[in-house]
Amino acid sequence: MKVAKGNATMGVLQMNETLTSILSRRSIRRFTDDSVCESTMRLVLAAGSAAPSACAQFPVRFIVLNRERMAALAERVEQKSPFQQGQWAIAVCADTRGYANGLAWIEDCAAAMENMQIACASLGLGSLWYGVYARPAKEPQVREFLKLPKGVEVLGITVMGYAAEKKEPTSGVDMTRVRFGEWSE
Ligand SMILES: Cc1cc2nc3c(=O)[nH]c(=O)nc-3n(C[C@H](O)[C@H](O)[C@H](O)COP(=O)(O)O)c2cc1C
Repeated sequence: MKVAKGNATMGVLQMNETLTSILSRRSIRRFTDDSVCESTMRLVLAAGSAAPSACAQFPVRFIVLNRERMAALAERVEQKSPFQQGQWAIAVCADTRGYANGLAWIEDCAAAMENMQIACASLGLGSLWYGVYARPAKEPQVREFLKLPKGVEVLGITVMGYAAEKKEPTSGVDMTRVRFGEWSE
């Protein structure tokens, strides 16, 4: 898609449902009591499964946690409220046993995580990316909780539910983060 500059850019973004979902995705940490049906959660799962995979190795595995399991996880981690209030959580893991593609599983998992977060936004759900991998204060507890064998890694957990907090969508591009042609300070 060719995106025009200035106001025209915002016009295109407002008309396009996919871009609207991407821009409206924000981190939600407080959720209402409203339940999210399993079929809706499965749509989010489908979005995660649709992510690309380096060399088509598809090492990503998903572990779905219901409210009961989320409550149990909340007892083991410091950041409790998303797991106490969210309706579903999906841990994004990678089976690296026999995997010969270096660290690309991290990219695969991240792509799946982001697909799921955007899917949540498109379905009117709030979501949170709970980071786990390589965080010494979280990873051992989560690994033990999920009963992960050696060689199965967990990148993070997507928590979803109906948002109990309102956050503004992102608008436009922060041009301080953009360079053209080559790096400049
Ligand atoms: C890799 C990664 C790990 C994150 N881990 C957490 C986390 O453990 N807990 C949390 O509350 N937010 C977590 N976040 C969410 C960020 O804090 C959030 O994306 C950032 O503050 C920007 O806010 P926004 O998502 O609303 O735009 C994580 C985000 C990413 C990309």
